[in-house]
Amino acid sequence: MRVVSGIQPTGTPHLGNYLGAIVNYVKLQDEAHASGGECFIFLADLHALSMPHIPAELTAATREMVATLVACGVDPGKTVLFNQAQVPAHAELQWLLNGTARMGWLNRMTQWKDKAGKNREGQSIALFTYPVLQAADVLLYQATHVPVGEDQKQHLELARDIAQKFNNDFCPEDAPLFTLPEPYIPPAAARIMSLRDGTAKMSKSDPSEMSRINLVDDADTIMKKIKKAKTDPEPLPSEDAGLEGRAEAANLVAIYAALAQCDVAKVLSEYGGQGFGTFKPALGELLIETLAPISARFLELKQDREALDAILARGAARARERGVPTLDAAYKALGLVRG
Ligand code: TYM
Repeated sequence: MRVVSGIQPTGTPHLGNYLGAIVNYVKLQDEAHASGGECFIFLADLHALSMPHIPAELTAATREMVATLVACGVDPGKTVLFNQAQVPAHAELQWLLNGTARMGWLNRMTQWKDKAGKNREGQSIALFTYPVLQAADVLLYQATHVPVGEDQKQHLELARDIAQKFNNDFCPEDAPLFTLPEPYIPPAAARIMSLRDGTAKMSKSDPSEMSRINLVDDADTIMKKIKKAKTDPEPLPSEDAGLEGRAEAANLVAIYAALAQCDVAKVLSEYGGQGFGTFKPALGELLIETLAPISARFLELKQDREALDAILARGAARARERGVPTLDAAYKALGLVRG
């Protein structure tokens, strides 16, 4: 079992990142550790160059993201925790894979289309080729399990396509180089939506602070955001089917289910027939209970810059070492001569 995933150190991590991905980093890290496998979690700082950014903010956000992940339970004793910029093999393998990835494949990426909008000509090349770097990230470590939210599924499918084509084009049939990675997506929390609009995903880039719960929000802020979350006037239904066409209600119930680690049906069996006047405070309490220890730990860890840098340096050294065999084999398969 090889678990690999990444998170961009931009903006403040939110509940969507936590329930969609970070919870599963911790779960799979523990499973990998118990079964003799390995887990690699990295800060995708090279990916952050795809959008305009302020260098000093990227540096600070990178350290803060390490503190966040550790506060959430990513254990540097069990997981190789690092940032891409310290492991040049990610960028090197991306270049090698650029010969295999096709323009048409990248043109179909919905994230590219969404982020570029009508101004494709004005975007950075990094935004377009971003999914090839993401493929390199996971293929470098021969990932088997990639914990991500639903929005990254298409990028993982692309990574599989690139791996498959490279294996077909450059490897003997009985000795493929790359393992095909599988996305690991949580059923209830695959796509946590904005608290202001049930049709848009909760996102770091949403201009409205009220649209998301940040992992470091204090108890009052969390309760205020949940109480102000957009809903409809109907009480909650008693069965799943009753949530159809009620995106905002469905989102709040899904968040509750993910936090309580139960399914939606169980939440509805408890709250069916009740209004949001009852449900929202219960959800707010559950969120505060889950996030309070995380933000307390984060604030403590954040103070110790040296300790955070040491975690990254140790992780990067390990990652550099673990990536060598695959990178070397990729150069060789392509017929590139190195000293
Ligand atoms: P990023 O930084 O946007 O998000 C990090 C993780 O959080 C998940 N996520 C969500 N899950 C559920 N609901 C939401 N509203 C929500 N918002 C974000 C994302 O799916 C992701 O798992 N391209 C990636 C980073 C990356 C990566 C990789 C991931 C780079 N290389 C290799 C996996 C493997 C990204 O920008 O994630």
